Amino acid sequence: MTETLGIHGPETAPAFPMKRASGCPFDPPPELTEQQRRGPLTRVDIGEGRIAWLITGYEDQRKLLSDPRVSADFTKPGYPSPVKRTSQTSSVGFILMDDPEHARQRRMVTAPFAVKRIAAMRPRVQEIVDGLIDELLAGPRPVDLVQAFALPVPSLVICELLGVPYADHDFFQANSKVVINRETSADERDAAFARLGDYLRDLVGEKQRAPGDDLLSELAERVDAGSLTREEAAGIGVLLLIAGHETTANMIALGTLALLEHPDQLAALRDSDDPALVSSAVEELLRYLSIVHSGRRRAAVEDIEFAGQTIRAGDGLIFPTDIGNRDPSVFSEPDTLDVTRDARRHVAFGFGVHQCLGQTLARMELQVVYSTLYRRIPALRLAASVEDIPFKHDGAVYGVYELPVTW
Ligand code: HEM
Repeated sequence: MTETLGIHGPETAPAFPMKRASGCPFDPPPELTEQQRRGPLTRVDIGEGRIAWLITGYEDQRKLLSDPRVSADFTKPGYPSPVKRTSQTSSVGFILMDDPEHARQRRMVTAPFAVKRIAAMRPRVQEIVDGLIDELLAGPRPVDLVQAFALPVPSLVICELLGVPYADHDFFQANSKVVINRETSADERDAAFARLGDYLRDLVGEKQRAPGDDLLSELAERVDAGSLTREEAAGIGVLLLIAGHETTANMIALGTLALLEHPDQLAALRDSDDPALVSSAVEELLRYLSIVHSGRRRAAVEDIEFAGQTIRAGDGLIFPTDIGNRDPSVFSEPDTLDVTRDARRHVAFGFGVHQCLGQTLARMELQVVYSTLYRRIPALRLAASVEDIPFKHDGAVYGVYELPVTW
């Protein structure tokens, strides 16, 4: 019989996610890279007997991530959820929705992330970064760069943009941590989402009564106008608050560690005052580290003929953009960190309609940080051995829990 075996093939599929090799904290798991060598479309076991397709190459990832037959809606049959999802998860805004609802909600918050508006924020971000470095220099050594610098920079910035009081940072950072940890139980995750949702719902209510010059006040205005429910506004707020600080914080800390481990690259960046080199270093670190490392998750909603196979409606799809960013047919010597290469085509911000809304903001924050931190503290160095650094193997976003540094 020649009938295609489809997603449940004859051989056993390797478990996903895979483990990174010890001693290679910046490289994707070798078994994952091996999948790319095996072919464009392989199968992985995501637990509890669930099998999903793995799209391994850069071009194919971009092609299918922008295919309307591929859904980001976690309630669709076959969606290869990395965690147990419940209805509570829907409070995480439009990232898990399809068009037209996704586009309707995303459009409501695109203006504050436009290039001009973000450029206007740069002097304030520089001020935040300089202020935190002043505190670092005046404080004790060694210090944990995550708590003292990497987390506060993007948290302060997203709080100002949204109109969230920074004084509440312990609360939202702790709950975000629970949400993005893969080891969190469904109940714990629901509870964290509920706390964040309640908090944002109250804040939107406050902005309805006393609006400010911030994004949540713009959403509150839409709630008043009846074009958005308060629940939806809170969901968008939760998404922006989590996405706005967790990712960038990890890029700051892990990026710093990667540079400290590649002193020639760090020196090239520190000793140049060419803004073009700073932005190419940002793109290269985004590519090389690909911190959103658990694979973009999608479900096929129609049959798709792809790479000689039929992806059936209801099959789960995983796009490991970390290996897309190491695809040797697109990036020469992909495992080399080279801050002078043109890495702008990377897929570290995803691709298609869900491509990162905050990418202009993230780039600007990272450019300010990478062009300031190593110049102001040229003797910055690790205060522990790399083997002792706790890496976030268990989270949806890769990084380090702690980065003890001194100078
Ligand atoms: C270095 C930092 C960042 C990285 C690596 C990153 C990465 C990503 C990725 C990979 C996606 C796509 C998810 C998918 O396709 O399933 C995404 C979506 C998103 N990101 Fe970011 N992000 C970063 C910073 C930010 C910032 C600062 C914000 C600001 C609030 C933000 C807001 C969002 C939003 C709202 C989405 C959902 C877009 C949609 O579904 O239409 N991100 N991000």
